[in-house]
Amino acid sequence: MPTDAEAYAPMTPAEVRALRDQLDAQGKKLVFTNGCFDLLHAGHVRYLNEARELGDAMVVALNSDESVRELKGPTRPINSENDRAEVMAALRAVDAVVVFGDKRATSLIETIQPHIYAKGGDYTVDSLNPEERAALDAAGTAIRILPLVPGRSTTATVQRMTHDGGAGRLRIGVLGSGEGSNLRAILAAITAGALQADISVALSDQADSKFLQIAREAGVPAIHVDGGANPRRFDDAAQKEIAEHLQRAQVDVVVLIGFMRILKEPTLSLYADRIVNVHPSLLPKHKGANAPQLAIEAGDTETGCTVHLVTAEIDAGRILAQATVPVLPGDTSEKLHARIKDQEHKLLPQVLAEWKK
Ligand code: GAR
Repeated sequence: MPTDAEAYAPMTPAEVRALRDQLDAQGKKLVFTNGCFDLLHAGHVRYLNEARELGDAMVVALNSDESVRELKGPTRPINSENDRAEVMAALRAVDAVVVFGDKRATSLIETIQPHIYAKGGDYTVDSLNPEERAALDAAGTAIRILPLVPGRSTTATVQRMTHDGGAGRLRIGVLGSGEGSNLRAILAAITAGALQADISVALSDQADSKFLQIAREAGVPAIHVDGGANPRRFDDAAQKEIAEHLQRAQVDVVVLIGFMRILKEPTLSLYADRIVNVHPSLLPKHKGANAPQLAIEAGDTETGCTVHLVTAEIDAGRILAQATVPVLPGDTSEKLHARIKDQEHKLLPQVLAEWKK
């Protein structure tokens, strides 16, 4: 019996050309695509499945180790060409694999003359390499650009792996109960590179909250902690569970964003001076719930939001940053709160970006 490595050994360009001619004689079509496929992820698999659907068989041209190094730098590839070829050939969508040493697939296209050329959607037909494009045109190959699968890339995977190793990035644990708009703002700041951090865990007392849903969709471990029967309290078992999740996720800083229970020991001591809360008023004014409504009722012409450290006394820890928001004539609590949140979405990521580990 051949080993897997033998069964999945790459073909030579001439063998792939023979496959193409055989298909051609049967009125069938060979799809060709190429790439490094260094760390295979779901985005690759979906792309390859879609590409395969364009014809009757598919060949994947894999960049050799040498050409991956030229294209992506000296730290790549992560997996050797033999391993990459073996994994690739084992996929359902892939009928043949060929390894090529040039940076471009031009000469391979000339040899194989595929019926269809598929490429991932960060390209347009016009942005294809001109030599490859000319070879495709000469071979009468149809060019098909397929949409990219959002949120999946080898670079992002590599970044996640190195960041999780420490490398200076802040590990954030978030607690929330509601809408999660501030969580979204933190995630956006991370994605934009404005905040060198990762959200390591999201915890909520509300199982079906938007907050947890947003975390889950962003690939953050999202955990519901059952606070016990009384909705206004958060019992000792739940308090302990919160601390355990934060420790397990090795967070550097805990962020409360609309977390509507009172956080107590053991978390307060374990993370002393490392827990922040965002509150929709200019503290020390309007502590507690319904702060925007309290500002309107007090006739304030100006309110805002505060990011502060959390201590046992509610909304009384050291203030780290504030932003003001005018109270406008005819403001309702909802309208005012929405404008306050706009400021929170900037302020909170800024405070975290300046946080020293
Ligand atoms: C935020 O406005 C935050 O300031 C407030 O809850 C909202 C959560 O919004 N927190 C408090 O009132 C705490 N006393 P979000 O879930 O959309 O981020």
